[in-house]
Amino acid sequence: MILRYVSLALVAVIIGCSSSDSSSGDNLESRVDALVAQMTLDEKIAQMSGDTVVSGPYGRELWSVPGVERLGVPAFKMSDGPRGIGVHDGATAFPVAMARGASWNADVERQVGEAMGRELRAIGGNVLLAPTINNLRHPSWGRSQETYGEDVHLLSRMGVAFVQGAQQYVLANPKHFAANSIEDTRFSVNVTMDPRTLREIYLPQFRAAVHEGRAASVMSAYNSVNGQFCGENEALLRGILKGEWGFDGFVLSDFTLGTKPESAKNGLDLEMPVSFVFRDLGNQVNSGTLAEAVIDDAVRRMVRKKLQYELEAPSPVDESVIASEAHLEVAQEAAAEGSVLLKNESNALPLDAAALRRIAVVGSLADTANIGDTGSSSVRPAFVVTPLQGIEEALGDSVLVDHIAKDVLDADDLAAIEAADAVIVVTGLSAEDEGEGLIGAGDRLDLDLSPERETLIRDAAASNPRTIVVLEGGGAITMGDWLPEVEALLMVWYPGQMGGYAIADLLFGVANPSGKLPITFPTGLDQLPTFDNVSLEVTYDYFHGYRYLDRNGSTPEFPFGFGLSYTTFSIDNLQASQATAGAGDVVRFSVDVTNSGSATGAEVVQLYVTYPGSAVERSERDLKGFAKVTLGAGESETVEIALQVNDLAYYDAAQAAWTLEALEHAVHVGTSSRDLPLSTSLTVAAQSPVAVY
Ligand code: BGC
Repeated sequence: MILRYVSLALVAVIIGCSSSDSSSGDNLESRVDALVAQMTLDEKIAQMSGDTVVSGPYGRELWSVPGVERLGVPAFKMSDGPRGIGVHDGATAFPVAMARGASWNADVERQVGEAMGRELRAIGGNVLLAPTINNLRHPSWGRSQETYGEDVHLLSRMGVAFVQGAQQYVLANPKHFAANSIEDTRFSVNVTMDPRTLREIYLPQFRAAVHEGRAASVMSAYNSVNGQFCGENEALLRGILKGEWGFDGFVLSDFTLGTKPESAKNGLDLEMPVSFVFRDLGNQVNSGTLAEAVIDDAVRRMVRKKLQYELEAPSPVDESVIASEAHLEVAQEAAAEGSVLLKNESNALPLDAAALRRIAVVGSLADTANIGDTGSSSVRPAFVVTPLQGIEEALGDSVLVDHIAKDVLDADDLAAIEAADAVIVVTGLSAEDEGEGLIGAGDRLDLDLSPERETLIRDAAASNPRTIVVLEGGGAITMGDWLPEVEALLMVWYPGQMGGYAIADLLFGVANPSGKLPITFPTGLDQLPTFDNVSLEVTYDYFHGYRYLDRNGSTPEFPFGFGLSYTTFSIDNLQASQATAGAGDVVRFSVDVTNSGSATGAEVVQLYVTYPGSAVERSERDLKGFAKVTLGAGESETVEIALQVNDLAYYDAAQAAWTLEALEHAVHVGTSSRDLPLSTSLTVAAQSPVAVY
């Protein structure tokens, strides 16, 4: 077994070094060796901690880590990123990652990563502290908005796309490794889980980010996993990440006390943002309690990435790229693609602008810059296009827009609402309801809107049946009894600084909604596993999200993968490139998709696998592939989804090996996790172990 891991690790290191980087293979390694050999112990240790001098408010400066000037080894300069370059006033504010997850469009996500990387490079930064790829076990997590959803496959595809995009310009830093999905106890909670749950549910997206995405660095999490803090978790850092996966980059700590006494020995390479624990490393080496080889390995990892990515002399990118027209376009496209149309009774949407005389735009959020939490991922763009601004600019002077900027309506407001041809209520959550702990609101234990905002919707709908809700927030919201009262519901998340234009385009049919839920919207908390942000010991089970509801036979309000369009699609003729397969095969499934309606639109074809007769408990169905296709009215296209057969393996803890079962797998294709009209089967031959990357 050990031999297998070693050989896999070697292969991975070799693959890792032959990437598009300027220096590759032996040449790179000998340059790294030569540099590290010239460094004193003090110089090496100095590179293992940040030296940021914080002179302003939190997050206003690039976090820095020294290099070795006399040897030409450059410093790291870091910024947070999941929704934009946080340190720089005026940087583009993209929609939050949850919105981008809802786009199911990895090409757009690659462009988002690239734009953020370009902006960071332009201000002299070289490490982007993003993407957040923690699996959303429960929508109560205060940082739901920072991640791409509740499914490992979707998380992997979006995470890889972001990393690949960003690393055109800077080093990416997928975070937080691992199982970080509770805010209020994040510094102290121990998350216990069995090996299968860890390997299949909480780690695959990190494996994809380092293997396929070739992420140069990874950030450890604050919490403990199976009894050891992630920042000193030997099994995670040395065993899995650097050992089995052959990761040749570096691991940095999360920022507030994320470094622990055993961190260096157990595989953490860099303490951020300043030296608390690692300032003792010199004493430890001198007294013989820590091998200098540990220091050398950490420094080699960082120097390797500095050379590979030419951080010593990056080609210049000028500041005109910050919030450039091109980046704002990407932000707007991501907002439009990520908005999910959840309800559209009697084709209430799109609104025909030419037929409107008067509309009401209602709610305190309608003209509020509501772009996400106040935590480390916050961004300060030069402007934010609010929903009201987008609507007003789209309609011009020909339509009277009554703006009622309140959540509690009086008789005059209700009269104005009644007189309108259509009512758009903009409501939802804000940074006051959810966000990062310490510097934000923390976890959200109640998934409902505030009673005031629920009443706002009901009152508006009672005064005018043509009520459309534009809903903002970073995760699932439970609807209560207001949902049946409204004609249409558009979930726009925190849509970034261009969100108002995207929303107006969607409302008036300039753009067609094509987002799909990246998380389940339950009817209530009783459909979900327990979220415990008080205990310091919690257990994560194998099931959460749609897989939990499927197992329990619960019917959600809106299922994972669901989203409507202004057009209709038909999907048929499911074909597989082969009916039987073995380890290592890639099976291609195809379907014919036809836009059978009258507007151009995009559909996300989703492929789920089930495991009848499996020897272990499996999900009812797992997402294993998807493809988004845009079609004009009446157009058809054959869409292909590739399935890696090794992706069907489960982790056999007793053998410490990924195992393919001899099963006739059922393959289901459709347009949401609960709408899968096409099926076929794929018979797979048993094999163990199999390589899962
Ligand atoms: C957050 C990280 C962030 C870091 C630096 C931490 O508290 O958990 O996601 O990158 O701060 O701002």
